[in-house]
Amino acid sequence: MGAVDEILLTPEGLPKPDPLISKWHLRPDIVHMDHGSSGACPTEVLEHANGLRWELDRGSPEFFLSSWSPHHRRSKEALARFVNADYNELLLTPGSTLGLNIVTQSQQFQSGDELLTTNHAYSSVTMLLKHVANRDGAKVVIAKVPFPVASPDEILESILTCVTERTKFAIIDHIVSRTGLVFPIKRIVQELAKRGVETLVDGAHGPGQVQVDLHDIGAAYYTTSCHKWMCAPRGVGFMWARQDRITRLKPLIIARSGHWRDSAGGSYTWLEHTFEWNGCHDPSGVHSMPKIIDFLETAVPGGHAAMVKRNHDLAVEARKRVLEILDIESPCPEDMIANMATFPLPDSVLPEKLGILPLCQTLWEKERAEIQCYHWPAYPKRIFRFSVQLHNSLEQYIWLAGKIKKALGAEYEIVKTPKENGAPENVAAKNGVMGNGTKESGPAKNGVIENGSKKHESGANDSPPSKRRRVS
Ligand SMILES: Cc1ncc(COP(=O)(O)O)c(C=O)c1O
Repeated sequence: MGAVDEILLTPEGLPKPDPLISKWHLRPDIVHMDHGSSGACPTEVLEHANGLRWELDRGSPEFFLSSWSPHHRRSKEALARFVNADYNELLLTPGSTLGLNIVTQSQQFQSGDELLTTNHAYSSVTMLLKHVANRDGAKVVIAKVPFPVASPDEILESILTCVTERTKFAIIDHIVSRTGLVFPIKRIVQELAKRGVETLVDGAHGPGQVQVDLHDIGAAYYTTSCHKWMCAPRGVGFMWARQDRITRLKPLIIARSGHWRDSAGGSYTWLEHTFEWNGCHDPSGVHSMPKIIDFLETAVPGGHAAMVKRNHDLAVEARKRVLEILDIESPCPEDMIANMATFPLPDSVLPEKLGILPLCQTLWEKERAEIQCYHWPAYPKRIFRFSVQLHNSLEQYIWLAGKIKKALGAEYEIVKTPKENGAPENVAAKNGVMGNGTKESGPAKNGVIENGSKKHESGANDSPPSKRRRVS
């Protein structure tokens, strides 16, 4: 990646994206650096999905009778090849949330059993574990994975130290939403299995960001949201269950099968008949799977492997530049990220309502920059995350770092003259105006054990409400 001396601007006055942005119909008045939140669907995929929607509407009873089932089948056949799975192990879902719920709510625990996750888990995951723990009298154990972190071994160790003989089930991220860390998922799954713990991998950020081989990972279950890194339309995801776990699953929605048996009878799989029809719906997104995968395979010469490499290389280079410009210590080795990079920022110098999320708000309102900012692990510590997709350029991240520097400086000015700006006088002194969050953070030794949902868990995804609060 070459040096950037000058940031070329668009007619809107924003840093130029990569020419590959022509594959998307993204607004030109926004700098799109947040693909990890809810993705962005390329024009050709959207047009394909729209075409399916039109086809359906030309005769919907006939479509559902004769076309729905073959379309579903073709989608899963394409998906099975893409993620190295067997056809009958896959269930198309609207996203990770449904898959996570099907798998977790199907489990039956004994009183005193322990259910493991980490402080990096998505908030719904922790809620879900607490729900089944309350149901069965089990406990949720939250392993404290450090961030900043020095190596994949540190991640593995922090999880394994929380395993006891009562640990039965774990939900572990493949790639973390908040911190962008790529967990050593295969090793985690193997080590947990050796200790008798079954793992559901939350792969919401996996497929598309990295190449995924489900048989190789070898977990009991895997779920994802294809609208994130597979560039699918919103509402496309899948759940995968290992052969020996498939029939243990229980549907959350009781409904008839969407598949008509052919004359031979029973030619559809158990997952298809029991789970795939959740009532009448618009299947144009999930039925676009062959087109979605075709996009990933053809968007750049060299196929999906080249797309993954291009995005990772850009993320690494952009991260290097941002670290330099903002004078931040690297929070993890570069081979521990894929396309998302997260940066510790100086502590919030303003009260919460004017602190972390307002930084994002300032970047949005003043600069039209789309990124994510979060408290981590708790106020006043904070982090921000950018994502890299084919439409992004190195210039955009260099520009971003400059804008963040400016926004942090503006916060400092508010604190220096609190009375005029309405900020309390003691906040700067309390939080250390430009103290770098990286140096103070360190690994916690043990996991937190929780019973049910009473205790508030700081960290992971518990940001306060904000006008621009979004989940990712
Ligand atoms: C790590 C993680 N898991 C699960 C989800 C839920 O995904 P969805 O809303 O697509 O069901 C998200 C969404 O951002 C996520 O980041």
